[in-house]
Order: sequence, then structure tokens, then C-alpha cells
Amino acid sequence: MEKPIPSVSLLSSLLNAKKLYNNPIQTIEDHLKDFETDSFRTYMGAKRNILISQNNKLAKHVLQKNHKNYHKSEIQSEILARFLGKGLLTINGSHWLKQRRLIQPGFHKANLESFLKIMHLEIKNGIEGLATRYQKEKFTIDLNHEMATLTMNVVSRALFSTQVDQVEIQFIGKSIDQLQLALSKDLRLPMFGWWRHLVGEERANNKIANKLYALIKKKIDYRKQNKEVQGDLLDMLLQVRYEESGEGMSDQQLLDEILVLYAAGYETTANALAWTFKLLCEHPEHHEALQKEVDSTDFSEGLRMETLFSLPMTAKVSAESLRLFPPIWIIDRVALDEDEIDGIRIHKGDIINIYILGLHRSEKHWKNPLEFNPDRFESDTHMKTDFTYLPFGGGPRLCIGYQFAKLEINLTLHYMLKHYKLRLDPKQTVLLKPLLTLKPKAGIRMILEKRS
Ligand code: HEM
Repeated sequence: MEKPIPSVSLLSSLLNAKKLYNNPIQTIEDHLKDFETDSFRTYMGAKRNILISQNNKLAKHVLQKNHKNYHKSEIQSEILARFLGKGLLTINGSHWLKQRRLIQPGFHKANLESFLKIMHLEIKNGIEGLATRYQKEKFTIDLNHEMATLTMNVVSRALFSTQVDQVEIQFIGKSIDQLQLALSKDLRLPMFGWWRHLVGEERANNKIANKLYALIKKKIDYRKQNKEVQGDLLDMLLQVRYEESGEGMSDQQLLDEILVLYAAGYETTANALAWTFKLLCEHPEHHEALQKEVDSTDFSEGLRMETLFSLPMTAKVSAESLRLFPPIWIIDRVALDEDEIDGIRIHKGDIINIYILGLHRSEKHWKNPLEFNPDRFESDTHMKTDFTYLPFGGGPRLCIGYQFAKLEINLTLHYMLKHYKLRLDPKQTVLLKPLLTLKPKAGIRMILEKRS
């Protein structure tokens, strides 16, 4: 039987446009509460074609069962693609399938083992180096900033090995941050696009994007000309061949895929780490249990992926943190054709927003959902078959880098706890700032003390 889905009125959606921009999560939560429902419709401009849902059956249907009927919406395939180009994250249909088949093997376990060495060195040095950089036994860091620096270094080295220097890495990080900010304005306040054009914001962003493309193109050209083999992601992307033609990727496609890996892989992991350390500091009993596991583990010789993936407390802590603070907190699709899901009528052109944060914090699916309880996870989990837990998405478009991200998270947890005692600066209130990813509004200040 068809279920009636409540809808926000046009007037209310127009009046709340600014609130939605400043505080989208609260706005969504308020509607879900008012309507006493897990799904509601709302407007994009004058069209009532947005469906926001935390219904797991709907998520499973859209992302897996009938995924062919649901493409990435214009937000990703056009607005995001304007800056990131047409790579895995932003493309659809047969182009996506062709690219996914080509790139997926590079992220298989056997290949990841070869990036592990690069990642391990970068994380170990980055974290040990914090105390040297601050020149103190006890110091305060902006955790988000430090984690973003670390994950930007890791993804840069995994892509280009030693072929990028610190100045270039910083430039790439800053450019991606700036473009993300511009994008979130385009997404949430599309009606003010003319203003951004008028005041030159759009031009300034295009300039940043062009400089970024030129830098990455230079790296690709250099590697091609020098034919050096580094065993990194760039090598993998240069070596893969399309099955049908036996040819490699065009330079433009290569550039687009690299930008996508940067954009999808850097800030997501940094945010995941920042939230995890915050939660650990707020829950000393779990902090202590993890500390014990870290102190009884030695990575100094021949680190293997299996070792990193077989640490139970590490796995549970990161799984639970990704539940409470999923860095990608909402994902969207557009319906190509009519459909019906769990009694909900879907019209052609409807935009479906799967509200991952809501699913992860729903009382329907989780006991005491707001409690940080790593023991609710039995072991390493990246998705549940009932689609109630989707930190890395689900179905065929599941995050290609989820194992890469987990390795990075596990190694960072290990080295931070191995070298430092962590404490939150008590003089702060940490608020959420949901842009494209879920980040803390004004960073997280953390006091680090060197362990003897
Ligand atoms: C904790 C860290 C991460 C989280 C939470 C995360 C989350 C996600 C999610 C939810 C999706 C699905 C989006 C959708 O269906 O619309 C996705 C896709 C993707 N992720 Fe991740 N990700 C993380 C790290 C990474 C890393 C490290 C990389 C690469 C180095 C990466 C590369 C990608 C790519 C390329 C896609 C698009 C896949 C496709 O559509 O075929 N991600 N990620």
C-alpha cells in the first residue's frame, strides 16, 4: 500500500533556506521530529522533488537493489564535477562502470600492501614529529588541522611518492578546502549564484582550480617522461588498461581521477580521526582499553595489513566513531524512472537524499544510539547488510578507498596513543559544521603530553 509522505510547504522551505545553509542537520532533524516520520519531501526552488530519508529499506533499494535507476544527482555529476572533473565520484552509468572496473584492482588488498609502507612511514614520522615541531613535552594542537595535514600528506605520498614537496602538498590541501567551501555555497544557496559571480568569487575559485589542475598535470607529465616506477597510486593509474581497447586512460581522465581521490580521500579521513580522538578523550574506559591494545602491539618490523586489521579494540573504536560521526553524513541520487520503495512512490526526477547520520543515530536501529559504545560492534565492520550502517556508502558504489581509509585510521590511532597522552582542552564547545563532510565548526583543541 502506498504510504503518504509528509512535505515541507513551499513557503516554509523558502523561509528556511538560510537556516538550511547554516544548520542543515538541525533543519532535517526538526522536520523528522515534527512529522514523526523517517522520510519527508521538500522543495528545491519551486520544485517539490526532494525526498530526505533515513529509511534503511529505501537506502538498500536505491543503493543496491535497483541502483541502475538511481544516478548521482546534478549536485555531484554537474556542480561537483565543475571543479573535480569527471572521475569515479561524479560520473554515472557505463562511464562509471568502465572507470570503476579499471581502478578497483588498485585498491585490492594485494596493492594496498604496497602503499602501506609509504603510509606507515608518513604517519609514524608525522605523529612522532609533532613534539619536535612544537618543541615541548606538553602542547596544544588544533586536532582537525593536524589530522588534515597528516591525511593530505598520506594521500599525496600514496599518489606521487616523493614527487611532491611540502609546499605543493599545502597548496593542494588549501585549494581543495577553498573549492569545497565554494561548492557548499553553490549547493545550499543556489539562488545567490549571480551575486558570487558579480563579486568575483566564481572567478577567484576558477583561478584556484586551474592552478591545481596545472600542478597535478605537471606531476603526471613528469612521471610519464621519466618512466620511473615508484609503486604508488600514480603508477597504478598509469599502468591500468581498458579491457576492450587495451589502452590506458587519457591525460584528462587521469587528472580527473586523481582530483577525485584527493577530494574523496583526504578530508573524510581527517574528520573521522578528529571525531575518534574526541570521543576517546570523553570516554576514558575505552581510551584505556585501546591504550592497552596499542602498548601490546609492535609495528616496528615488517608491518602487514592483516596485523592492522586484526586489532579488535582498534576496529571497534573506529567503527563506532564512524557510526556517531559519519564524515559523509548524507548522499544523494536522482531517480531515472518511476519506482516504489517500501510503499513510498518515487517519481522520475525525484532527488533522494539518504540521511546517513539519521540512520546511524536512529533509535529504531540502535540501542541508546547517542552513547559511544564500541562494544556494540563485534569486529571490523564497514557496512551492515540491512543498510542501517553506511559510513562508506553501500552497493556497487561503496567507497573504493574504505580499506585504505581504515589502514590510515588504525595506524594513526596506534601512533598517537603510543606517543602521547591525550586530553581535550576543557575551555571549548565543539559544534558540528556539516559542509560536504561532517567537521567540527571551530576545530578541536587537544592537549598532547609526551609519554615517557
Ligand atoms: C573515513 C574515510 C572515508 C569515508 C567516510 C568515505 C565515505 C565514502 C562514501 C559514503 C562514499 C559513497 C558516496 C555515494 O554513494 O554517493 C564514498 C565514495 C568514494 N570514496 Fe570514500 N570515504 C573515505 C575515504 C576514502 C579514501 C581514503 C579514498 C581514496 C583514496 C576514497 C575514495 C572514494 C571514491 C573514489 C568514491 C567514489 C566511488 C564510486 O562512486 O565508485 N574514499 N566514500
